[in-house]
Amino acid sequence: MADIVASNRDRLLKAAVEAKTFAYVPYSKFRVGAALLTEDGEIIKGANIENASYGGTICAERTAFVKAVSEGKRKFAALAVTTDVASPIAPCGMCRQVIREFCSLDMPILLAASSYIEKEDGVRESTLGELLPFSFGPEDLERDRRLRYLFELI
Ligand code: THU
Repeated sequence: MADIVASNRDRLLKAAVEAKTFAYVPYSKFRVGAALLTEDGEIIKGANIENASYGGTICAERTAFVKAVSEGKRKFAALAVTTDVASPIAPCGMCRQVIREFCSLDMPILLAASSYIEKEDGVRESTLGELLPFSFGPEDLERDRRLRYLFELI
């Protein structure tokens, strides 16, 4: 796992808790807060935003990535996620794939329980590689393809 300094870890966890306060969750009532740390030490927050169509719902993690990338930030050092659940909750499959697009497999992902501040073991530290093993990513599209197929395209 790549290192993050303790002060950044603290800032990031606090930002995830702050982000959760803006969750728009009239349907599930399940608040999620995410915070992304850029390589420059900047923090970008995201909350889940639900939709009456249900399918239009955007998770907190993807809100944070879309905010960051659309502002020109693409290099990240860590991600923190928190909910109101007393134990750490992991990102959904779709969010893991979005994280995979921009982050290295050893990037730390901090999963904080709702009470993480009071409890020593309230933060579970993981990595993208652990959450999404044997994954598909941007570099796979650069791999050599079967020659016969390529000739058929010409
Ligand atoms: N949710 C997230 O924000 N992140 C996840 O990784 C899991 C699910 C949200 C989506 C929806 O608003 C609510 O949690 C219940 O699924």
